[in-house]
Amino acid sequence: MTSTTIPTVSPFDFRKALSSNKLRGILKMMSDYRLAYLAANLATGLSALAKMITSLVLLRLFAATILGERPPFAGTLERTLLWLALGFVFLAVFEGGFSFLAGRLAAYTAESITRRLRDFLFDHIQRLSFAYHSKTPTGDLIERVTSDVDTLRRFFSEQAIGIGRIVFLFVINFGAIAYLNWKLGLASIIVIPFILAVSVWFFRRVTKAYEQYQEQEAKLSTTLQENLTGVRVVKAFARQAYEIDKFEKDNWEKYLRGKHLLLMHSLFWPLSDIVLGLQMLGGFVFASLLVINGELNVSDYPVYVALVVWLIWPIRNLGRLIVQTSTGLVSYGRLMEIVRQEREALTEGRFQPNGPVRGEIIFENVCFQYDDGQSEVLQDISFVCKPGQAVALLGSTGSGKTSLVNLLPRFHEYTGGRILLDGVELKDYPRAYLRRQIGIVEQEPFLFSRSIRENITYGVGRDVPQAEIEAAARAAAIHDVILSFPAGYDTLVGEKGVTLSGGQKQRVAIARALLKDPRILILDDSTSSVDTETEAEIRAALNRLMQNRTTFIIAHRIQSVMNADLILVMDKGRVVQMGTHEQLLQQDGMYRQIYDIQTKIEAELEEEIASVF
Ligand code: CTP
Ligand code: MG
Repeated sequence: MTSTTIPTVSPFDFRKALSSNKLRGILKMMSDYRLAYLAANLATGLSALAKMITSLVLLRLFAATILGERPPFAGTLERTLLWLALGFVFLAVFEGGFSFLAGRLAAYTAESITRRLRDFLFDHIQRLSFAYHSKTPTGDLIERVTSDVDTLRRFFSEQAIGIGRIVFLFVINFGAIAYLNWKLGLASIIVIPFILAVSVWFFRRVTKAYEQYQEQEAKLSTTLQENLTGVRVVKAFARQAYEIDKFEKDNWEKYLRGKHLLLMHSLFWPLSDIVLGLQMLGGFVFASLLVINGELNVSDYPVYVALVVWLIWPIRNLGRLIVQTSTGLVSYGRLMEIVRQEREALTEGRFQPNGPVRGEIIFENVCFQYDDGQSEVLQDISFVCKPGQAVALLGSTGSGKTSLVNLLPRFHEYTGGRILLDGVELKDYPRAYLRRQIGIVEQEPFLFSRSIRENITYGVGRDVPQAEIEAAARAAAIHDVILSFPAGYDTLVGEKGVTLSGGQKQRVAIARALLKDPRILILDDSTSSVDTETEAEIRAALNRLMQNRTTFIIAHRIQSVMNADLILVMDKGRVVQMGTHEQLLQQDGMYRQIYDIQTKIEAELEEEIASVF
């Protein structure tokens, strides 16, 4: 595989940009790029200045022509025109050059900030707890990382560089008018408080409308994402019509909210233009009065008219900036909800072990509940597992087997009692260490849309010799199956390659866990989808591999658990029976019942098979 080195972007911990003041928070996000932003704003300001001068000079020339004045330059007409032409060319180049520079700088800073924001979010989301992930809809997260980041990118590339232009044009034009006549200067900006008030009014409404719009969009993307993931269920139950209907309803709601948002924007423009139009009119009348009273020269009047147009521009854009900033702030808030989430501490721990664990595990009156207030999923569980022993869990569905084993890698924290690993309480170990020591085959294993080889070597994160990969695959009874695929170990899994059966997936997942060569191995119902023969094959291989490792095995067939050193029979979150196969058979309890039923079924099956042949 060829790997290209990606130019780095200076990393930034966006938790530093958390602030109750959203504007300040956004400013903090710009850290490292503030100078570039200042330069971009300066450039837009200068570019606007050139444009303004061009139009002022043109206006002055027109006025001179109409009034029949001599051109305002000495020398012949030809020379004057030549100089003027050169001047215009210079101004055009100046304006274009700075405008280009501003665009370049804005693109560079906006893209860089959002790139490192995306990098950060991906990294951060990986580190959030299981509890967070199981509560947060995937579609909502995807929506925030894509759409909200994009809104911020637009804010940085468009709105954030408009400030320079506004400040430049305002200061220069206001200064010029005030220089002509200070009363006229003041009269020309009376409108600002009104524009501010209108903008703030719209700011609030656009904020709310945009929040609702984004919420709905997240809902829509969750619907879409769930539908694609669960497409089999939808089809199997022939519920397409229902799903389509549901999507259309959500989509209609989004349409309504989008319309409302646009309405807010489109109401703002005419309203602010009416206010500004009144301002201009008032200014012209006031200037006329000043001329009549002799406080302003007649020849200054057209100059005022030209200047006031350029003064209104930044005021108009200030309002627009305020209103549009609201969407940036909303997206900032939505993203910070993710950033604010506590990360799972991975490397921190009171006990920093060196070397691998021995694998002695002791449960002492362990209790566990998923949420405060929810009933206990595990109650008062106590047992001892010596290093290298195998513990089997047997019990009805929902009895808490998965919950119990998930406590070991600290996917969740037990809420009562203690779990000791090699004599040290589990809570004192760094999570990353525990997870390195534990190989887990989940009840519903997930494979990535990558090659089978990459899936098997996923847990070790290094180049593994083919022989090792094959050994793991053989132990998981999947080697021959893999060889039957066209590209062998390089066959892609999923959308672009082969679709594996449930049992094949489980076996790839077993190979993945085995290759890691962990001291503690957890097999959560890992042979539920394979036939009896394959299961026996895997069991034989596992028996070899289970030596010297502490193993937790959850299974439903007595044969899978009978060789375990300790069998825990679970019911409704409690261990109701505990012992070896022989011991449990002696007792009159659930284990014997299960054993009797299973042996009876098997005997009947054998009889049936015998009668067929
Ligand atoms: N549970 C929960 N929140 C979770 C997972 C499980 O509240 N994130 C609850 C379930 O509703 C169940 C109980 O915890 O009542 C035990 O679940 P689990 O440990 O998954 O049961 P298993 O014994 O593993 O059941 P199965 O054999 O079906 O896998
Ligand atoms: Mg389970």
